[in-house]
Amino acid sequence: MSSKKFYITTPIYYPSDKLHIGHSYTTVAADAMARYKRLRGYDVMFLTGTDEHGQKIQRVAEEKGVTPKQYVDEIVAGIRELWKLMKISNDRFIRTTDPEHEAIVQKIFKKLYDQGDIYKSQYEGWYCTPCESFWTETQLVDGKCPDCGREVELTREESYFFRLSKYQDRLIKYIEENPDFIQPVSRRNEMLNNFLRPGLEDLCVSRTTFNWGIPVPFDEKHVVYVWIDALSNYVTALGFMTDNDSDYRRYWPADLHLVGKEIVRFHTIIWPAMLMALGEPLPKQVFGHGWLLLEGGKMSKSKGNVVDPVVLVSKYGVDAVRYFLLREVPFGSDGVFSNEALINRINSDLANDLGNLVSRTVAMIDRYFGGTIPETREKGDFDDELISLATETPGRVEELLDKLQFSTALAEIWKLVSRTNKYIDETMPWVLAKDESKRNRLAAVMYNLAESIRIISILIQPFMPETPAKIWEQLGIGGEAVEWDSSKKWGTYPAGAVVRKGEVIFPRIDVKKELEEVEKMTAQADKAKAEAKKDKPEEKAREASPQSDGEKQGEGDKEKYITIEDFQKIDLRVARVLEAEKVEGADKLMKLRLEMGNEIRQVVAGIAKYYSPEELVGKKLILVANLKPARLRGIESQGMILAASDGEKLAVAVLDGDVPTGARVR
Ligand code: ME8
Ligand code: MG
Repeated sequence: MSSKKFYITTPIYYPSDKLHIGHSYTTVAADAMARYKRLRGYDVMFLTGTDEHGQKIQRVAEEKGVTPKQYVDEIVAGIRELWKLMKISNDRFIRTTDPEHEAIVQKIFKKLYDQGDIYKSQYEGWYCTPCESFWTETQLVDGKCPDCGREVELTREESYFFRLSKYQDRLIKYIEENPDFIQPVSRRNEMLNNFLRPGLEDLCVSRTTFNWGIPVPFDEKHVVYVWIDALSNYVTALGFMTDNDSDYRRYWPADLHLVGKEIVRFHTIIWPAMLMALGEPLPKQVFGHGWLLLEGGKMSKSKGNVVDPVVLVSKYGVDAVRYFLLREVPFGSDGVFSNEALINRINSDLANDLGNLVSRTVAMIDRYFGGTIPETREKGDFDDELISLATETPGRVEELLDKLQFSTALAEIWKLVSRTNKYIDETMPWVLAKDESKRNRLAAVMYNLAESIRIISILIQPFMPETPAKIWEQLGIGGEAVEWDSSKKWGTYPAGAVVRKGEVIFPRIDVKKELEEVEKMTAQADKAKAEAKKDKPEEKAREASPQSDGEKQGEGDKEKYITIEDFQKIDLRVARVLEAEKVEGADKLMKLRLEMGNEIRQVVAGIAKYYSPEELVGKKLILVANLKPARLRGIESQGMILAASDGEKLAVAVLDGDVPTGARVR
């Protein structure tokens, strides 16, 4: 067993009979990370599961005329099927209805009660059943749930409370002393400024208004309310507080809790406070990723606005869907899902760039050398450039994956894909092949292509569970030549390997035909939705009200000076340009990918007339990081970079000196 361990978790999922593609986001990202760590030699424990208790489940089951357990059993089976389909490599699957989990939650509850961290009192608040959230009067928006806009119910009941407030100072201290604990940094600041520093209230941790939950062991009319039940899964799955706790001792603390941004608060405040109360170590990192949005809203099962991952995977294949999820959006930011964007990615990155590279290369080795590259090879122009990029890429990919920057890691791999394709254009093997005296040069070109593809195929493994083996089959390699660390050793493609022409790994999709089909499917679904809504007028009203487009500028007195407080409202940060690309069809606009600490931002800037993309890459600029995101030519811009202009000339503001990205400018 490896001495290095890596314990990674996803949230446990609410049973939903219709999981949408947004749901698979956390799990696919966690899976990529788990696969990556295994490839790096870690002993990985990857946990996912389901969060099955609560009033909502009880109600839905009642409506369907089945017991809650019958209801969840069926749905959970579907969820497990989906993860199988998406090639999720979890080592364990926990259900909060597992008897082992229930027993440990009761022990935890009792221990916290016995030591005075849980006490009995009265609860009064507003409850949103679909969101399973309590709200105080002031949190409501127009008297409705601030999250989903639905009716809330006034609830007053005897409840047990967890002394969350007691842990406030220790939590603040911990978060301040452990800068990596909450990532990306923006979420860390949000937790400190919006929740912790204003003060924590004790937390209601039991309910008496329903009984689909784990009974409080010493007061059976109460059930343990959601967060203690759900969050504990991360330790109950390892046998915490049982005689059989060797996994707990080996794997805890978790190295990474990967969660969506809406539940960062529970994972970085409630969960650590519980662990502090239990006297257990805290997880090393909680990473809050962004949302996949559909037509401007989070794809949420409560809104009935879904894209079926099963359909997507069966249409395009698991590797293409996973690639899209992790490539399209910088991890941490929100992104928009559309079928068109998915198909475009498949066609350009997968079919054109990677797929063609593999099939062209294999076909050439086959045609020119009968499948095996001769060992006498002659060096030539363009080799060094390709080799040096191929040699640098694995290290860069590792560095980015260590920071969960999936999208940039893939971008790095695809730079090598493009460079390799360019190498074919530069060396023109078809010309070499006509000249018998160029045999040795042709052999070297083929070798370099095969070798570069070998490296690429190793590096895509965390993201793509199926494609690497297909490539190895075609390149005729296996064993040591496909081990992770061999990606760092140029020249490992073995002498005597025999290539085999195979199927096209990513067939091109006819965009127009495909989108028409998708549109037809959507229209049918919309029609069904409209019919169902006829008797729910309040939903129609909510959808019809236009979204406010930010606040209008106040017409207050214009003053000559601003205060330092005014200035401090602007969050200026150092950001490094990772990638720059002109926006097609807009001669002024440049799309930039910026690294800001552990966060990646995409910004669209009107500088394309003054700079070439190559000039910008690597520069450290100043980013207005808290500017409201806007869309320019349909591309999301998450902030603004500073530049000086007199109307004729323009220069971006560049940092003089070596400050890390993410540092504040003030
Ligand atoms: O929150 N885009 O479960 P859940 C990106 N049971 N991620 C999304 C998403 C979207 N459109 N929709 C959902 C729960 N997710 C609790 C967790 S943990 C102790 C208890 C993600 O089924 C979401 O952010 O609502 C979360 O990470 C995961 O799916 C499960 O969400
Ligand atoms: Mg949720």
